[in-house]
Amino acid sequence: MRRSVIVGSGTEIAPHRVTNDMLSGIMDTSDHWIRERTGVETRYFVSPGQATTDLAEAASRRALEHAGLAAGDLDLLVFATMTPDRYFPGCGALLQARLGCRQIPSYDLRQQCTGFLYGLRLADAHLRAGMARHVLVVGAETHSGFMPWGPGSWARLSGQPDAPLADGEHDNNTRFRHLTVLFGDAAGAVVVNTADGEAGGSGLIDHLLYADGTDAEKLCVPGVGFRHRPYVDAGQVERCEYVPVMHGAHVFKLATTHMAEAAREVLARNHLTLDDVRLVLMHQANLRINEYVQRALGLPDSKVLHNIQRYGNTTAATIPLLWDEAVRTGRLQPGDLVLMVAFGAGMTWGACLARV
Ligand code: ACO
Repeated sequence: MRRSVIVGSGTEIAPHRVTNDMLSGIMDTSDHWIRERTGVETRYFVSPGQATTDLAEAASRRALEHAGLAAGDLDLLVFATMTPDRYFPGCGALLQARLGCRQIPSYDLRQQCTGFLYGLRLADAHLRAGMARHVLVVGAETHSGFMPWGPGSWARLSGQPDAPLADGEHDNNTRFRHLTVLFGDAAGAVVVNTADGEAGGSGLIDHLLYADGTDAEKLCVPGVGFRHRPYVDAGQVERCEYVPVMHGAHVFKLATTHMAEAAREVLARNHLTLDDVRLVLMHQANLRINEYVQRALGLPDSKVLHNIQRYGNTTAATIPLLWDEAVRTGRLQPGDLVLMVAFGAGMTWGACLARV
């Protein structure tokens, strides 16, 4: 049976570490609230001028090195992000040039937190169809660009705790505190190849993907888009309409329900159970969401890996970050069965079963 195998992975974390206590210096929040409600302890932000493709390039080079391949070996590039460097062109072509790939096709995916799983299925489909032999799948984000913080806030987060804030800046930061404490900047990349093997051997076994736009307004960027003419103006910026809207409790309910259902469904249709699974890698939106899913599925702690405590929610990057950590630390060994599950804006969700 022909299967697509993840043969290398790599990551890049943004350079600036920001603690919960540092955030409490620019808004009404506390380390206690953030840890208790979200699990996040630290997150990392890019330097001024650094963008998603910069993080993706570093992660991709590590993934290629891990796979023992060169950029020239790649036949296809899939780039998932909701925070591209520019409105257009997409990051896929930018990364192709940075890596010095041949003029290979590149896809840009916008399925937010589910983007990496959409990318894996797209890569798998091309490999199975014989349309590519080596595919790079990247999930990368720089959420810090969504933050409605002024220069004073950024100065405080960059080692100047006494930097002055503008009038109203603290209040405006507090207005968005339910959202801004969650996110971080990072990139993860994997190289996927085709391998011939026995049934039950290594590789991507099955994918489930869903989308339902009914509740799209509950998790979206309300302004800055082509519903407006021009697509961005000073009024939208002043009203902070470039900052995502997030109905936290509603998203929490949908994420817990759909991730648990997708996990059960993909296992059942492959005649497998959670007893067969070595590790479940869940999208890292909120530690409490994942603990809820863990309880619903009856999973022991030994079968779950989290990184939201260190990195926050890095959207399309969370799952490749977990994969890379699990492989490099030996939590995943050849032959282990892995279940990946995600839920994101759209709404979109899904699951992927793979054997290392
Ligand atoms: N610090 C202190 N207090 C805060 C903060 C903060 N950072 N944020 C909100 N609060 C306050 C609120 O103002 C509110 O105060 P009030 O009772 O005086 O009005 C109180 O805490 C409770 O607010 P809720 O919004 O009800 O808090 P909740 O327990 O629901 O937690 C959270 C909010 C963390 C956003 C949660 O709903 C959540 O994680 N939802 C899922 C959203 C999600 O996953 N988003 C990720 C992006 S999308 C994705 O990746 C799938």
